[in-house]
Amino acid sequence: MTAAALSANGSSPASTRGEVSIRDLSKSFRIAGRDFPVIRNLNVAIGAGESLVIVGASGSGKTTLLRILAGLETADAGDVRVSGRQVSGVGAERAMIFQEPRLLPWVNVLGNVAFGLELRQGARKVPRREAEAQARHYLSLVGLTDFADAFPRQLSGGMAQRVGIARALAVQPEILLLDEPFGALDAMTRITMQNELTRIWHEEQVTMVLVTHDLEEAVYLADRVLVLPKEKHRAPRLLDIDLPRPRDRSSPAFTRYREALLQEFGLH
Ligand SMILES: Nc1ncnc2c1ncn2[C@@H]1O[C@H](COP(=O)(O)OP(=O)(O)OP(=O)(O)O)[C@@H](O)[C@H]1O
Ligand SMILES: [Mg+2]
Repeated sequence: MTAAALSANGSSPASTRGEVSIRDLSKSFRIAGRDFPVIRNLNVAIGAGESLVIVGASGSGKTTLLRILAGLETADAGDVRVSGRQVSGVGAERAMIFQEPRLLPWVNVLGNVAFGLELRQGARKVPRREAEAQARHYLSLVGLTDFADAFPRQLSGGMAQRVGIARALAVQPEILLLDEPFGALDAMTRITMQNELTRIWHEEQVTMVLVTHDLEEAVYLADRVLVLPKEKHRAPRLLDIDLPRPRDRSSPAFTRYREALLQEFGLH
């Protein structure tokens, strides 16, 4: 259960669907005439179907890293590949889920889930009936079959986030990027959603990169946890979570991993 520093060449040329390779990634932001480094020389390889959870203090660059993977932000230096292809701009093979589900308020649940499919152009365009059938499949996967005709304002926070997950999955992405997806939910709903996400991730066999502030959530969901340091002179760390699934939150081994993460932040 030791956290190992990342090796400089820890990634292999990615060619399998869902593999992610991040090499020598650096990103600074220029604020009031000064450059602030946010990510410095990050190297990490994520296996196809792996669940990588990113934790780090506020401002450590978690959202920035996800946005670079999504193609919403450009890196200053380095090479980022998903399924062997260099990331440049957004793409349907990389679906992002935010803390708020960002649903279209005037479109019903089914329409929100089908939305991404109907936006497609050219050879990948899906006829409306097919898009709806696919949307219904993903609604059932998140347990919302009975709410297909409901509107977003009629949903609880947890239900709305499920719709967001169904919408992201409906386009059958190679990688799911989630930025504090359950951060706005109450503790009990959050646990239900973590259980559901684990089941969905397992069924869909999709690569998952998830950001959270919640260390218990990190231990529950992750194959590996990437710890981003706030002080940029320190190297990012990777922690393997070697626990069988489904995970038992009350087991001594689970608690030990949580404590190991607390220690990473000097909070133990
Ligand atoms: N568009 C931007 N322009 C300028 N600075 C930015 C921009 N986006 C992020 N930053 C800066 O980059 C740093 C990292 O931001 P980021 O949002 O990635 O942090 P985070 O780890 O997601 O934090 P939090 O836990 O609070 O969400 C912050 O210091 C922030 O001020
Ligand atoms: Mg953030």
